[in-house]
Amino acid sequence: MTILHIDASINGENSASRAISRSIVDQLTIEIGGGEILYRDLAADPLPHLTLDAFADTSALDEFLGADTIVIGAPMYNFTLPTQLKAWIDRIVVAGRTFRYTETGPEGLVPGKRVIIALARGGFYNQGSPAAAFEHLETYLRGVFGFLGIEPEFVAADGLSVSPEQREISIKVALGETVRLAA
Ligand SMILES: Cc1cc2nc3c(=O)[nH]c(=O)nc-3n(C[C@H](O)[C@H](O)[C@H](O)COP(=O)(O)O)c2cc1C
Repeated sequence: MTILHIDASINGENSASRAISRSIVDQLTIEIGGGEILYRDLAADPLPHLTLDAFADTSALDEFLGADTIVIGAPMYNFTLPTQLKAWIDRIVVAGRTFRYTETGPEGLVPGKRVIIALARGGFYNQGSPAAAFEHLETYLRGVFGFLGIEPEFVAADGLSVSPEQREISIKVALGETVRLAA
């Protein structure tokens, strides 16, 4: 089994999404007893913004297509995903490779993959709350992976900017969730 592990936080060792994505990969590795892990740090080694020429570089797409499981650390920046992660999404959403248009509408071409996403958000965006309309991270990722034929799983640490106590509790709960996910 090949796991593709992606991080995008600019916060280095203080990053919650990095800690949670790492824990997911660790738990999966224990569960399956090995496997190949490919790691891409989009903050340390960013992909350039998409250009027509950039489509010629299929390295990110090939990595994605070759992976059975993809684990993504996704912090919320300005209500959505970091541009570093968006640049990666732009490389893997490719007509004819990961989706196609048919007479009955678009069709995802990579249904067999497991995608697990570690969300880290400063606030709370629960359904029905006033902030819910500003949530464009989880909703976007659910939509774009759904477009490819994948239903992503999420582990979320929320309210990380509310207080140090809340941050500690949210990260602890999310790290606990990673054990359940891998089982
Ligand atoms: C540039 C920047 C923008 C942010 N924008 C938001 C935001 O719009 N909404 C929110 O709830 N939290 C926001 N935050 C808080 C982060 O989501 C929070 O700190 C989270 O822990 C970041 O993930 P990380 O710890 O993996 O870096 C922002 C943080 C940064 C650095």
